[in-house]
Amino acid sequence: MKTMQFKAYGGPEQLVMAEVPTPQPGPGQALVEVAASAVNPIDWKLHSGLLRWVRPVRFPATPCFDFAGEVKALGPQTTGIQLGERVFGMLPMRAYGAAAEYMVVDAAYVAVMPGNLSFQEAAGLPLAGMTALQALRDQGRLVAKQRVLIVGASGGVGHYAVQIAKALGAQVTGVCSTRNIDLVRSLGADAVIDYTRNEAMSQHGPFDLIFDTVMSQAFSHWHPSLGRDGVYVSLLPQAGLILHSLTLPLYSRQRVRFTFAKPNREDLAYLGGLAQNGQLRTVIDSVHPLAELHAALQQGQTGRARGKIIVAVKQ
Ligand SMILES: NC(=O)c1ccc[n+]([C@@H]2O[C@H](COP(=O)([O-])OP(=O)(O)OC[C@H]3O[C@@H](n4cnc5c(N)ncnc54)[C@H](OP(=O)(O)O)[C@@H]3O)[C@@H](O)[C@H]2O)c1
Repeated sequence: MKTMQFKAYGGPEQLVMAEVPTPQPGPGQALVEVAASAVNPIDWKLHSGLLRWVRPVRFPATPCFDFAGEVKALGPQTTGIQLGERVFGMLPMRAYGAAAEYMVVDAAYVAVMPGNLSFQEAAGLPLAGMTALQALRDQGRLVAKQRVLIVGASGGVGHYAVQIAKALGAQVTGVCSTRNIDLVRSLGADAVIDYTRNEAMSQHGPFDLIFDTVMSQAFSHWHPSLGRDGVYVSLLPQAGLILHSLTLPLYSRQRVRFTFAKPNREDLAYLGGLAQNGQLRTVIDSVHPLAELHAALQQGQTGRARGKIIVAVKQ
């Protein structure tokens, strides 16, 4: 089978197509014929060597965590999925590599795809969608009628976060640039802040939850807009923020929390249900064939994606 590989740390231009044996599913695993995958910032960050001190990569390495495809074989004692089912999911950090024609995956990381989604739409959802869900629901403890600010509302994580927050019954304000205002409104945001206009944040809020997917501004920029019991959730444990997370509880009811996507079938099924009900859609920034995975990663590196960058594995 064909797969894309990095042989050593480097930029997307170092990716090469390789022919490798089709893997065999072990106990509790499924073999999936991948129809589509998606790229996330972690893919280029891991293979550039940026995270080598915390997440070293073993080469050759096949990028990508997200997949949507069809179950072609089941290992012994595999339960919860059937042969021939259309499934989607996210591979765990210790076993990623979805940029390939076939991959094996533990059944715990797979769910049945919502019937109304294409493979490409479903492939965008797992990593970014579970990050958004777990940030809002588990770290932010968002409930109906609360006010939430989503920073980076047009990006991979942010565009799902806007829709999930609406589905949870929240009042949503999205932060994006001028060119993405219509998109973010179309996802259901009640209000939009255009970050290119440098508006004073004091005009907005207070928010019960600020979910920052961009993390380009210091916490002090957002703090005045955080409600008395507000929670600020970040995707990146920067040193200054860790300090705030430790000191804020000493003198206030506000909290700083971090989220790290944890793949699991229940959350995939929840997101699938929202998609099935028409409450969650994937905005597709661009689609790249497997052989041009480097172009997908380069597009991700620009930091300008609107929604998800998709890899079409099966044409
Ligand atoms: N901890 C975890 O488990 C986890 C999981 C997923 C992602 N992450 C991290 O979270 C970050 C976001 O991931 P992603 O997949 O959403 O990235 P992404 O899709 O590449 O985000 C791009 C979007 O960010 C917007 N943006 C850039 N600067 C902005 C600003 N100052 N204010 C508002 N929006 C801005 C861009 O809009 P414009 O072009 O209009 O500026 C673009 O739509 C990455 O650093 C990623 O590594 C962490």
